[in-house]
Amino acid sequence: MSWMIVIVKMEDDRMDVVFVEDYEAMSRRAAEIVAGQIRQKPDSVLGLATGSTPLGLYRLLCRWYAAGRLDFSAVTTFNLDEYIGLSPTHPQSYHAFMQEHLFSKVNLCPARCFLPDGMAGDVLAEAGRYDARIEAAGGIDLQVLGIGRNGHIGFNEPDDHFAVRTHRVHLRDDTIQANARFFPRLADVPREAISVGMGAIMKAQHVVLLASGSDKAEAVHRAVCGVVTPRVPASILQLHRAATVLVDADAAALMPEKWRHAGRIHIG
Ligand code: GLP
Repeated sequence: MSWMIVIVKMEDDRMDVVFVEDYEAMSRRAAEIVAGQIRQKPDSVLGLATGSTPLGLYRLLCRWYAAGRLDFSAVTTFNLDEYIGLSPTHPQSYHAFMQEHLFSKVNLCPARCFLPDGMAGDVLAEAGRYDARIEAAGGIDLQVLGIGRNGHIGFNEPDDHFAVRTHRVHLRDDTIQANARFFPRLADVPREAISVGMGAIMKAQHVVLLASGSDKAEAVHRAVCGVVTPRVPASILQLHRAATVLVDADAAALMPEKWRHAGRIHIG
């Protein structure tokens, strides 16, 4: 006997897609959401992302902290991923990225800023520890996500299934190529990473996915308007109870016009 699972999506399930003009507007909207979360719940658990996309968001959070408008002292953070084989002090590690762009500039408590350990001898054990830490913190209140050109979130690469738990990932060639710009040579890009799975992301109270630039247009279109499939990992967010997609004009270029007027979609 063969089984087919049909997911019926209600109109209300649609992601909250917010169209904004450009990268600056996207970053400002994202920063307002994160700041609102921290003001409403000072001991929030934030899920954080790396890459070029959230840089503007982090810049604004640092600026608002410096101006006395934000207090991170009770906040806990969990990053999505780390390269396997890079130590926290390696300049291209996500530890170093977060240190440079956020942790060193705000009053986050270092003991409450977590990233997976890319140097762990036993990756499976480290993955289990990371999930247990997220669970012990009560789960993620607000998860910030970027999107890879192939539709990945965190380092959840296109696959024939969704990985639920934190796991070891063999990066795909297109991801290695895309991330090579951060490394001196293509050969220096690690081939493996450790990434949070879809379980922690889908259990987050609120997810905000940021997308900017024409190289993200196809991934955004497939993730938001296409079928839910592990071949486009971000498409799973269509099933999240509270997912906001902040998309700028270039990244929204392939979204059909009707999406701009339907459901819960806002023009920012
Ligand atoms: C990496 C990260 C992702 C990020 C993606 C897109 O693969 N693991 O979390 O969303 O890159 O990066 P960028 O924002 O630089 O396009």
